[in-house]
Amino acid sequence: MAQMTIQKLLSMKTSGQKIAMLTAYDFSFARLFDLAGIDILLVGDSASNVMAGNSTTLPITLDHIIYHAQCVCKAVSKSMVVVDLPFGYYQSNTSLALSSAIRILKETGANAVKLEGGEEIADSICAIVKAGIPVMGHLGLTPQSINQFGTFAVRATENVEAAKLKKDAILLQELGCFSIVLEKIPANLAVDVSKSLLIPTIGIGAGVDCDGQVLVMHDLLGMNNNFNPKFVRKYLQLENQIISAVKCYINDVKELEFPNKNESY
Ligand code: KIV
Repeated sequence: MAQMTIQKLLSMKTSGQKIAMLTAYDFSFARLFDLAGIDILLVGDSASNVMAGNSTTLPITLDHIIYHAQCVCKAVSKSMVVVDLPFGYYQSNTSLALSSAIRILKETGANAVKLEGGEEIADSICAIVKAGIPVMGHLGLTPQSINQFGTFAVRATENVEAAKLKKDAILLQELGCFSIVLEKIPANLAVDVSKSLLIPTIGIGAGVDCDGQVLVMHDLLGMNNNFNPKFVRKYLQLENQIISAVKCYINDVKELEFPNKNESY
């Protein structure tokens, strides 16, 4: 399999081939996901939640995300690596947006950046695209705006917000975004948006008719039994498996069952 490019993603949309995207934050998991053949690895600002234990994505800094992206990029040979621009680095300052995106590409070897929002951040998207850096958009439930939303509930269920989202999606395409994440919106709205665009949509909680899907790796692997939103499918139950493996190890150590002769020098 050759390296994933934005041109290939566009042709996947045209030919109806679905795009599989997954988050990654470190070398070891990124290596496995790349070997499995994932199309896109997202170094998401969800690192703030699943790696740093914060309740929102707001605290993560540019230095933090660059560190995670460096670890991921070292492991990858085929997948495209997209990195989130963290909160505060692009919302109100176009030159900070551009210099942050440049830092990400220069210091990590990633292929693209992702920004949350529509018309409000058009200037930042424009400046980054003009610099030759591919931009992925993100509409719907944009977690960096959680304080404005007040809840992680489904977005754009009312006509006014749905109409704005459709308009923003067209605008992002016109500004040069190569794809758009649609997070937690009604499936029929995601169908309309996906049909209206030439660039692929990547859904999370947005139904099966997006051009691709994304999940947070910890959700796919079942690493937190207390997090069970409807849009998550757990392909493993790692919380249970890891706890029981570690319990076995603790028991073996205490009972002098580990290490045995073969495991000793
Ligand atoms: O940060 C993240 O993990 C994301 C995905 C949920 C799309 O933005």
